[in-house]
Amino acid sequence: MKKKIYIAGAGGMLGEAFYRIFKNEYEIRCTDKDVNEEWIDFLDFRDFERYKSDVENFKPDYLFHLGALTDLEECEMNVDDTYLTNTTSVENAVLLANNLNIPMLYISTAGIFDGKKDYYDDWDEPNPLGHYARSKYMGERYVRENAKKYIICRAGWMMGGGPKKDKKFISKIIKQLVSGKRDLHIVNDKDGTPTFTVDFAKNVKLLIEKEYWGLYNLVCRGETSRRDVAEHIVNILGMQDEVTFHEVSSDYFKDTYFAPRPPSERLINKKLELRKMNIMRDWKVALEEYIADYYTDYLAENIYTVKEDGITLKPAV
Ligand SMILES: NC(=O)c1ccc[n+]([C@@H]2O[C@H](COP(=O)([O-])OP(=O)(O)OC[C@H]3O[C@@H](n4cnc5c(N)ncnc54)[C@H](OP(=O)(O)O)[C@@H]3O)[C@@H](O)[C@H]2O)c1
Repeated sequence: MKKKIYIAGAGGMLGEAFYRIFKNEYEIRCTDKDVNEEWIDFLDFRDFERYKSDVENFKPDYLFHLGALTDLEECEMNVDDTYLTNTTSVENAVLLANNLNIPMLYISTAGIFDGKKDYYDDWDEPNPLGHYARSKYMGERYVRENAKKYIICRAGWMMGGGPKKDKKFISKIIKQLVSGKRDLHIVNDKDGTPTFTVDFAKNVKLLIEKEYWGLYNLVCRGETSRRDVAEHIVNILGMQDEVTFHEVSSDYFKDTYFAPRPPSERLINKKLELRKMNIMRDWKVALEEYIADYYTDYLAENIYTVKEDGITLKPAV
């Protein structure tokens, strides 16, 4: 008999990878308020009664609470909904998991730190700057203080989901290139560690199966900056001769990206290393695989002309 996992908020970047990695070996039920796949059913986890009856009906062995409001600007503008979604709903998940006596998974973020240090290990003290970060940290604390059995994994800059679901940096850069942009303005004051969703899901699976409960930083190996990541995307696409980078400070984007962000949100997977459980790969290798696996068709349609002797770039629009 396969073990059962209930995955709440499975319609996003991370949910896509969890579905891929867990679907064969486990019986899974995936829900979200955005029903964007045939394997997803509707559930808004802010509604405790509905969340409770849906989870109880499924009788899972694990509860994975993945979903959140992840747009930092939206969180600054809709503060009550941010805490209802990212904090109170996590309390719902803890109560459900405890009632059923099952372990739960919660996804926290590197963004809970204030960026005064260059990098953070699992035991550094968070000091969230904006409402997204604070709501996520309050969710993390509730799980730590109340869940009977839990795994909390802190992700960094998420890479995953492909052109349909990726709302973050990789997709934003690729979509600018696809639209014909060849002058890229990239901030030079933000450091972090990318997290490939597929590797993340595999590492979570390992922790769950080993029953190594607790809190873990879970990011790719290697430290980087927005500039390095953008440069590596351009290199992977073979566009280095065409693209010009303009380094700017975050102030340049202050009207669009007005939510506070720490200058450094670099994590290191110290606990995973100590437990010999760190199967995360270098971010560059993961980024290459991410683009090859998720973006090949999209790039072929939008940016490349496929010729008999290989792939060449379409001219800039
Ligand atoms: N993205 C990142 O860079 C990042 C970094 C570190 C940690 N994390 C954490 O990783 C987890 C997964 O995020 P992700 O990257 O997969 O983000 P995502 O692509 O935005 O996916 C989150 C999903 O949760 C859904 N959701 C929001 N409110 C819900 C509700 N009330 N009921 C049911 N579903 C709801 C969203 O639906 P809508 O689209 O309709 O809102 C979306 O489908 C989150 O806990 C996030 O905080 C993300």
